[in-house]
Amino acid sequence: MNKIRISPTAEGTITNIAGLFISIAMEQINQKDIFSVALSGGSTPKSLYEFLAQDSSADHLPWDKIHFFWGDERAVPPDHPDSNFLQASLTLLESRLIPAENVHRIRGELDPKTAAALYQEEILAWFKGTPPQFDLILLGMGFDGHTASLFPGSQAFQDSNQNAWVSAIQIPQLSLGRITFTANLINAAEQVVFLVTGQSKAETLFNVLEGPNLPNKYPSQLINPHNGSLIWFLDQAAASLLTPA
Ligand code: 6PG
Repeated sequence: MNKIRISPTAEGTITNIAGLFISIAMEQINQKDIFSVALSGGSTPKSLYEFLAQDSSADHLPWDKIHFFWGDERAVPPDHPDSNFLQASLTLLESRLIPAENVHRIRGELDPKTAAALYQEEILAWFKGTPPQFDLILLGMGFDGHTASLFPGSQAFQDSNQNAWVSAIQIPQLSLGRITFTANLINAAEQVVFLVTGQSKAETLFNVLEGPNLPNKYPSQLINPHNGSLIWFLDQAAASLLTPA
């Protein structure tokens, strides 16, 4: 069952999702002295990263116990303006002085298949051979219903191999290759959150949440954590076509 939290404004949505980030991080660090999070790319989470970097409500977090991964990356070098790693570094990681060994970036400068294979190895090694279960995975949703880099019609989620955790894909509608978590890896997480704001996402969001199950057309419908939970953080504009609770 999808949990949905709607705020009147995008700013309120950011404050709410930041509050969840902080509480989950504290809970996991108190329990096991470490917190693993996979960040999303795109423009929406930029203000979340800036909030976490600057807001005093996050000052008390033991940032040196937080390990950062990415749910997807573009096939570009880490200094490229399209790099999801670069965006998070400039807005959050540098400000909070995250130790280099806690930053697990996808090596977008490599051939995507090589980058995906290396990242899968790194993730499996980090989880010490146990099935990888991130504490938190942050996702966005594109206008076409994609999430991470699971795009409509792409071969990424036809990767039914249960042991595939990271895929490399070429997306016909984009000039770039991508490296992405598979739905299998995302659904293994303890907590998955979507951050979706703006009127321009309203119709797609309605189709994803209230339309027929068409994951090939709306890959965000693939996200349904096996044991963990899923929360959609929305602003009123993005949620404007949803049936009121
Ligand atoms: C990426 C993201 C992607 C993003 C959506 C929404 O690498 O682009 O991981 O899945 O979350 O495209 O992007 P916006 O927030 O820019 O609308």
